[in-house]
Amino acid sequence: MHGRVKISLTINGERREADVWEGESLLFALRERLGLPGSKNACEQGECGSCSVILDGELVCACLVLAAQADGHEVVTVEGPGFEHVQQAFVEAGAVQCGFCTPGLVVATAALLKQTPDPNEDEIREALSGNLCRCTGYAKIFDAVRLAAERA
Ligand code: FES
Ligand code: FES
Repeated sequence: MHGRVKISLTINGERREADVWEGESLLFALRERLGLPGSKNACEQGECGSCSVILDGELVCACLVLAAQADGHEVVTVEGPGFEHVQQAFVEAGAVQCGFCTPGLVVATAALLKQTPDPNEDEIREALSGNLCRCTGYAKIFDAVRLAAERA
């Protein structure tokens, strides 16, 4: 149950390998073994969205995926390419306060805009419903998503 396994996966377009415990999360492996601390670790229960990454094109909470399950798969983290315009929109809209939630929101927003380039209010709310922010009250976050959509 607690053996170690070697995993090999593509992260942000690069082939990477890591030696992980069977039970450890992808989030832990990214942050502690692969030098990618951008995905944040808050609840570790799939409730805050701060650890959001793209796994084979789908938005997931990296804390809920075992590192071993990602073996052979493709992961994109907030450090990866393609998030710059979303990040910029968050800064310009004033949607970053403490910033802890921002990486997860940026990844979730990029995933939304890929599927729905011109989302309406309900679609934005729904897409970001898994991402908690304790600081902003969300209005500025929704502004940031609209700004990113306009520019995409
Ligand atoms: S740390 Fe993964 S959802 Fe909160
Ligand atoms: S800016 Fe602080 S939690 Fe969102």
